[in-house]
Amino acid sequence: MTELQTPQAGDDAAPDTDVVALLMRQHGDIRNLFDEVEAAEGDARQEAFRRLVRLLAVHETAEEEVVHPFVRRNVTGGEQVVDDRLAEERSAKETLSALDDMDTNDPKFMAHLLALRADVQEHARAEERYEFTHLRRSADAAGLALLAKGVKAAEAMAPTRPHPGVESAAANMALGPVAALMDRTRDAVRRATGRD
Ligand SMILES: [Fe+2]
Ligand SMILES: [Fe+2]
Repeated sequence: MTELQTPQAGDDAAPDTDVVALLMRQHGDIRNLFDEVEAAEGDARQEAFRRLVRLLAVHETAEEEVVHPFVRRNVTGGEQVVDDRLAEERSAKETLSALDDMDTNDPKFMAHLLALRADVQEHARAEERYEFTHLRRSADAAGLALLAKGVKAAEAMAPTRPHPGVESAAANMALGPVAALMDRTRDAVRRATGRD
């Protein structure tokens, strides 16, 4: 499994001041974590799935807090673009909450995971095409850097690499803790971008 291990956020040389580079890297990390979950078995699958859920939770929260509001305000036709993305995110969250209660060894798990993966990837492509390109065109370097601060604050809430001894593979994956993680992430993003 080691060769599939998704790098820790911050391991690569993506510029910390470019919000689009950070978000694209998270899309890549999410894709790789889906690969990890699919390839792993038993406890390793449970643990990889947990990291995936946490990264998805903080990623979507960061987008809701910094990307979508910016696009709504600054991009022509942005209202509709954002409404479409939010609808996709809602449907992905519903699938996620259904999966959350499920044992990753459940025979039905993989079919649900693949459905979630298809939703998440379609959503990520739409964001890249309809939002991220406009972000780069509509924000100056200082604006992109401020948004990047918010995304980095979110990322810090969900390391993509396991921390041995800190959290067990059996740690609670119920929706409650994920919702709490989203709340904490929202607070961290708002603090980082001076909106608390
Ligand atoms: Fe999103
Ligand atoms: Fe995204």
